[in-house]
Amino acid sequence: MEKKITVLAGDGIGPEIVAEAIKVLDKIADKFGHKFDYTYVDIGGCSIDKFGVPITDEGMQKCKEADSVLLGAVGGPKWDNCPPAIRPEKALLAVRKELGLFANLRPTKLFSQLADSSPLKMSIVGNGIDLMIVRELTGGVYFGERKTEEVDGELVAIDYMPYSEHEIERIGRVAFESAMKRGKKLHSVDKANVLDTSRLWRKTMHRLAEEYPDVEYNDILVDNTAMQLIKNPTQFDVIVTENMFGDILSDEASMLTGSIGMMPSASLSSGTLGMYEPIHGSAPDIAGMNLANPIGTILSAAMMLRYSFNMMDEADAIEAAVNKALDDGYRTGDIMQDGCTKVGCKEMGDVILNNI
Ligand code: IPM
Ligand code: MG
Repeated sequence: MEKKITVLAGDGIGPEIVAEAIKVLDKIADKFGHKFDYTYVDIGGCSIDKFGVPITDEGMQKCKEADSVLLGAVGGPKWDNCPPAIRPEKALLAVRKELGLFANLRPTKLFSQLADSSPLKMSIVGNGIDLMIVRELTGGVYFGERKTEEVDGELVAIDYMPYSEHEIERIGRVAFESAMKRGKKLHSVDKANVLDTSRLWRKTMHRLAEEYPDVEYNDILVDNTAMQLIKNPTQFDVIVTENMFGDILSDEASMLTGSIGMMPSASLSSGTLGMYEPIHGSAPDIAGMNLANPIGTILSAAMMLRYSFNMMDEADAIEAAVNKALDDGYRTGDIMQDGCTKVGCKEMGDVILNNI
């Protein structure tokens, strides 16, 4: 197969980790007889520096025309004081919205080789953590109207958090389908004791639950979820939630696994076009030093093969190669353990590539 991939390497460690994922993709292409064509587009701070905007219209067009998009990371202190309309993050949100990427899948898995790196006790994580957060990505407070105005001599800021039934229903379906393919257990996270959007969310999920009698369905409040993730994380299989709750809970969940550097994500549309990125940020403090962990990005490339290109064996091959690298004791600094071999970003990419 021949596939067009638009690459948004971005800022900070973005270019280094993306380079390793591309090396791995090329090895897959070689081995399985595919051809991947890459188009590089600037996004975030590097685009602001060059063009004055975090992504250009042509760049956005290149994302829309691709078979899938691979993203590194955006942002950094250098652009923290940019006006809100041209902040690096703005480009990320615009790509999500314009490509219709409403479903964000964030698998959270504790690799058995790294169980020691989890901040939780073995008695809590011992059975292994393997859960999937399904985050709604193009609605809610991220995309509602916002304004700051003066009222009675002081500033008042408002961020609206709208959700419509069809937005809730389509993310709900992704979550129920995902649960059907995994452990058939779904927790729907909301704040229905306070928010109207959550009450509509819950009502819509209950309607869907009737269509999926094989899935064990649970409602859970977001504050309780934050607690349960620490207290008893192995109770979860699939978690579905709205945009901002999903943002917060997925960072929390990633830490259960020891390093956010390991975690991939997929942002999916109703078609096959998707965007794939590690869930960590641009880590400007270690940028360009060959210290970053490329595994989150490499596993995101595996998700791309699985979800956008339907290349299941190829995706499995990447995941097996990552597993073997860990089995063989190779570690980047963030996951370093006694007795293991410390490697840089490039070397980790090479080890994984050679395992394919
Ligand atoms: C994420 C990030 C983004 C988000 C930021 C960079 C806008 O935190 O992908 O989780 O909040 O969605
Ligand atoms: Mg986040």
